[in-house]
Amino acid sequence: MALFCDLVRDIGKDRKAGHLAASLSELTDVDLLLERILKDARSLISAEAGSIYIRRGQKLVLAISQNDYLERVVGESCELPFLNYALDLDHASLAGYVALEQRTLAIENTADIDPDAPFQHHTAVDKSANYFTQTVMTLPIKGMLPESIGVIQLINPLDPHGRAKGFDEDDEKILEFYVNSAAMSLEKAMMLRSLTLRNVELISRHDPQETAAHAQRVACLSAEIFEHWSTKRKTPYQERLRVLDLFPLAAMLHDIGKTSVPRSILTKPGRLDLKERATMEGHVLIGARLFRQHRTQLDKLTYQVILDHHERWDGQGYPGWVDIDTGRPLPGRVGPGGRVLGKKGSEISIYGRILAVADVYDALVSRRSYKDSFDESLSIQIMEQESGHHFDPQVIESLLARRSVLRRIRDRFPDSEDNEEMARELPLARAPLAYPVGA
Ligand code: C2E
Ligand code: SIN
Ligand code: SIN
Ligand code: SIN
Ligand code: FE
Ligand code: FE
Repeated sequence: MALFCDLVRDIGKDRKAGHLAASLSELTDVDLLLERILKDARSLISAEAGSIYIRRGQKLVLAISQNDYLERVVGESCELPFLNYALDLDHASLAGYVALEQRTLAIENTADIDPDAPFQHHTAVDKSANYFTQTVMTLPIKGMLPESIGVIQLINPLDPHGRAKGFDEDDEKILEFYVNSAAMSLEKAMMLRSLTLRNVELISRHDPQETAAHAQRVACLSAEIFEHWSTKRKTPYQERLRVLDLFPLAAMLHDIGKTSVPRSILTKPGRLDLKERATMEGHVLIGARLFRQHRTQLDKLTYQVILDHHERWDGQGYPGWVDIDTGRPLPGRVGPGGRVLGKKGSEISIYGRILAVADVYDALVSRRSYKDSFDESLSIQIMEQESGHHFDPQVIESLLARRSVLRRIRDRFPDSEDNEEMARELPLARAPLAYPVGA
């Protein structure tokens, strides 16, 4: 018979799961959702660690992992240790079994798994992290399609003294409730991201360099830079969250106006002549017009990103202070020689200033029809030289501060064609959002 205090505690857990599930509706971004879902699911059973795998063809790709012990002991919470780690989608692993059978597996002790069971605990992750998974619950993340979206694993529940405690009787039921609600939010976020990336694929018909991989790299780097910049300025957490939730989608669409620029111009092997250059520069206004009706916060942010991404800190960028429809200078915005004045300094939205840095950096390290790729150190050097000229010095500071993620972003989203399908809609694998102390 359950004791009264157990009952009270259990009602508490149920209600907590309900609150946590409801609060997911404030998020739109796949990465923020994955991070929140894993953290919340772990908190429901005080799990020390956990992972989420996303199904991609015949693989389960590790999308995110969290481990309080490693974070404390090794202090490397910011690095996803197993970038692009994937399991085969078969019955041999716990994760694979659960994804295929779509039912929860609660294992009190991995050492006691029957050697004749179809599944075994795969220890690759444990071994390279020097960690031991004893107790593990693996739940399917089920969407609308018959196949599951992926699985979530919650590892090593601890009692308040930090000792292994196993599962409580109702843990499975509560987690299933929470994960099923979370799956709906996650599926919507994935829908939005994949729709956005399909738009990027349309851009790449005109500019083959403007790939989903480039879009995701720019989105990821923009989010990293914003995260650093806004943390340094002590922007309130909720405000940072609202921007970070939409910035990646907006960033992916920065060059959507290129769909109206002839392919012959964008793929020209040499430098553009003046007329071609003017046509190419038109991609900014064409793109901005698509988003000028601000029906949502995302429209507004995307508009600012597109309109300002080729402005320069020193005022020499384009399109400058023009009427969006006609392209003509706004009243009083004409400079010497009748030329339109560029936006300058903080007249350029912070989103445009950040996107300029992320976009140019990625253009430098990538091959283009008109240039070869530069290596990381030369590219960084060019970016630093342009600080205060092309770029906002504080944004360059944030780029330099996040230098450690540059390699990781390129590894996550390489240009090769086989990886295009694999990487599409995958989490960007940003570093975790810096939570305010005590949150
Ligand atoms: P993109 O190739 O994605 O380049 C984006 C921005 O990165 C460029 O904006 C420019 O500011 C910067 N960038 C690219 N390569 C270099 C470089 O070698 N050195 C430096 N310092 N900066 C670089 P921009 O110039 O406004 O060009 C916008 C888009 O127009 C480019 O996007 C590309 O699609 C096209 N484009 C620009 N110049 C040429 C060109 O000479 N030939 C061709 N075929 N296309 C060009
Ligand atoms: C792994 O750690 O590689 C996956 C664990 C499992 O699902 O067996
Ligand atoms: C912002 O916080 O959105 C703009 C601040 C700035 O322009 O520096
Ligand atoms: C380029 O278009 O290749 C150079 C432009 C810049 O330095 O900003
Ligand atoms: Fe552009
Ligand atoms: Fe671009």
